[in-house]
Amino acid sequence: MHQCSLFILTLVCVSVKDISGSWEEWWTYDGISGPGFWGLINPQWSMCNKGRRQSPVNIEPDKLLFDPWLRDIQFDKHKVSGILQNTGQSLVFRVEKDSKHQVNISGGPLSYRYQFEEIYFHYGMEDNRGSEHQIDKHTFPGEIQLYGFNKELYHNMSEAQHKSQGIVGISLMVQVGEPTSTDFRLITTAFNKVTYRGASYPIKHLPLSSLLPNTQQYLTYEGSTTHPGCWETAVWIIFNKPIYISKQEMYALRQLMQGSQLTPKAPLGNNARPVQHLNHRTVRTNINFNKQGLQGSHNCPDMYRNMHYTARYRGRKRSKKSVACKRNDKPKKCHKNSHPMAEGAHLAVQKR
Ligand SMILES: *[C@@H]1O[C@H](CO)[C@@H](O)[C@H](O)[C@H]1NC(C)=O
Ligand SMILES: *[C@@H]1O[C@H](CO)[C@@H](O)[C@H](O)[C@H]1NC(C)=O
Repeated sequence: MHQCSLFILTLVCVSVKDISGSWEEWWTYDGISGPGFWGLINPQWSMCNKGRRQSPVNIEPDKLLFDPWLRDIQFDKHKVSGILQNTGQSLVFRVEKDSKHQVNISGGPLSYRYQFEEIYFHYGMEDNRGSEHQIDKHTFPGEIQLYGFNKELYHNMSEAQHKSQGIVGISLMVQVGEPTSTDFRLITTAFNKVTYRGASYPIKHLPLSSLLPNTQQYLTYEGSTTHPGCWETAVWIIFNKPIYISKQEMYALRQLMQGSQLTPKAPLGNNARPVQHLNHRTVRTNINFNKQGLQGSHNCPDMYRNMHYTARYRGRKRSKKSVACKRNDKPKKCHKNSHPMAEGAHLAVQKR
């Protein structure tokens, strides 16, 4: 009897294992294998449907919380080599495994040192969609996400991505315009080498750090990977300035297909997961809006002065007015003439 059930169990296990190899290829960005169903396709991806700290999100500028303790982000200047691949769902660049110089990412909101691993390209077939994260409901034509894994606690990305504090996602919003960095051409000239699913192309000596926008201002929150299994192990960092790629480069991206050369299926673009609920998470920023020369800013306490402990310690003198600027208050209460958070929002949206 025991032997029998063991036998059946083994059979089941074997067949499940067989299928699991191809599960990775079943998910898409639309239809019955689209984002609303990712959590049902594979039990290991249940967070895609059940999770409450998911990504991407829409960033509401007037709910940003200024955190004076956020540091600058440290991003190694080393060049990396790797493989650009059309996975059928996305365009992905993965760093060479035995690369001598790994790119460390640390500082910012990060408590650990992370090692750069891969880049995901999300883009729209039209300029009015494409990015996964949104700023004040504004969608960008594209979003480039640099993922790294926690090198201090884990061995590699596949181990780290479903473990606590496992990964960092650095998000660059993409606008169409005159390119900010010529180094980006190392990747964009390879777009037409990876037109079909499964195609890959080597890229050598890519100076990652020069792809980043020239700002240290960022927004940060805790969320998930935006692809299955949607593990809630990611610290997200969104730079407060877009990067630019040319119309021609965008056109080349839009030629990529989801399928093989024989059955190309649909274009690869529009590969964005819809925004998820914040569910009371805080989005922090190192942008001190009060220091940006806004009128009447001395009347508005920043978070530091607004701390409950400090207010109590200083006694009754602190007027009601000075603690009026809580996170959920309409900023107008503090700034009669200006909207303190609006400037930050528009930095990401405005032209260079
Ligand atoms: C990244 O960090 C590790 C461990 O501290 C160090 O050995 C390595 O040299 C660093 N990489 C670079 C490029 O600085
Ligand atoms: C990742 O690290 C784990 C733990 O050391 C190991 O079991 C696994 O084989 C590694 N995976 C890859 C893809 O290298």
